[in-house]
Amino acid sequence: MHSVGLFAGIGGFELGLQRAGIAPEMLCEYWEPASEILKARFDAEVAGDIRELRSIPKVDIVTAGFPCTDLSQVGRTAGIEGSESGLVREAFRLIDDAVSTWVVLENVPNMLSLRGGSAMTYIADWFEERGWNWAYRTLDSQHFGLRQRRRRVFLVASRSEDPRKVLFADDAGPTTARANHSAYGFSWTEGNRGVGWGDGVTPTLKGGSKVGIASPPAIWRTDGAPGHAIIRPSVRAGERLQGLRAGWTEGSRDGVRWKMIGNAVSVPVAAWIGRGLASPGEPLDVERRALHPSDRWPYAAASIRGTREAWSLSDRPIRTTPPSTLSALIDRHGGSPLSFGATSGFYSRLRASSLRVRDDFRKALADHLQSFK
Ligand SMILES: C[S@@+](CC[C@H](N)C(=O)[O-])C[C@H]1O[C@@H](n2cnc3c(N)ncnc32)[C@H](O)[C@@H]1O
Repeated sequence: MHSVGLFAGIGGFELGLQRAGIAPEMLCEYWEPASEILKARFDAEVAGDIRELRSIPKVDIVTAGFPCTDLSQVGRTAGIEGSESGLVREAFRLIDDAVSTWVVLENVPNMLSLRGGSAMTYIADWFEERGWNWAYRTLDSQHFGLRQRRRRVFLVASRSEDPRKVLFADDAGPTTARANHSAYGFSWTEGNRGVGWGDGVTPTLKGGSKVGIASPPAIWRTDGAPGHAIIRPSVRAGERLQGLRAGWTEGSRDGVRWKMIGNAVSVPVAAWIGRGLASPGEPLDVERRALHPSDRWPYAAASIRGTREAWSLSDRPIRTTPPSTLSALIDRHGGSPLSFGATSGFYSRLRASSLRVRDDFRKALADHLQSFK
């Protein structure tokens, strides 16, 4: 099978699909640092601005992880009418003329709720008005062997096929395992309304727009020596948190690399979707209900021949054991002590807030600050 990747970024989607035997034929990405990586890593034509792209080749699959800037909680929240997320219309223009069997879209879960879920409504209507079937499911990268919490909505649409066979054929259900971890992720840029806490995982790596600074998350290592317990992961560790090979984005400065990594689709999630596209299964026999236009968009839903249904499916389709702990990942790929400024800013916000966090975490932050004295 062959694919075209629109808004291809650094090719997280394509790398995953490749693992399922799907080869990219054309990639479209206009941000130079990202397109340079695509040119170096893939044997495919790389096109620039999607607005100038007149057509795409005849392939089986078109992917579009369209910009989330106007849809994400940290973004500008202009919604699907925004200048960046609204670029999905450019993808639709190209898809409309293409003969591909499958279309796969990806974006943040906020698109299901922002402005009454208008982005999702726009997308669902677009496909239905043209006679396409669609199914979407919210998936979390931490259930695909990665040490990162990252929930994203994946939508698969087809004119001729049943996309539920791709997304709804597996469900491992929520995890019940409670483990003791030696590392916990948090967002050092927060501390007012939340801390982005992660048990054995980092919070979601964020990319955002081209302006602004992409900041990596922080990690508290309970086994860390004084001054090395509050860590900022290396870029190579960040690449591994997305399932990319360490060094995948080499060639740009760290801030740009973090932004590209934060924008990417997690590779093993794309690989699981790729396997479903290459050999669709049978939709599971789980609870479902009719979905009415006034209903909120659920975590998983489908529309087959125009009939919409909400499906009760978890964000964990398969059982996986992460190959390494978060501590082991840092040991292998590196990290450096979080700076005094970053730590003290976070600690001050935390102390001024009413947030409840573990006492030993507060102490670790205070000890880390002491280590600079
Ligand atoms: C959410 S990211 C997609 C990341 C990608 N799926 C990956 O795995 O790396 C959206 C991408 O769309 C690109 N983009 C935004 N506007 C564009 C345009 N007009 N033409 C082409 N690419 C564009 C951005 O530079 C960004 O890399």
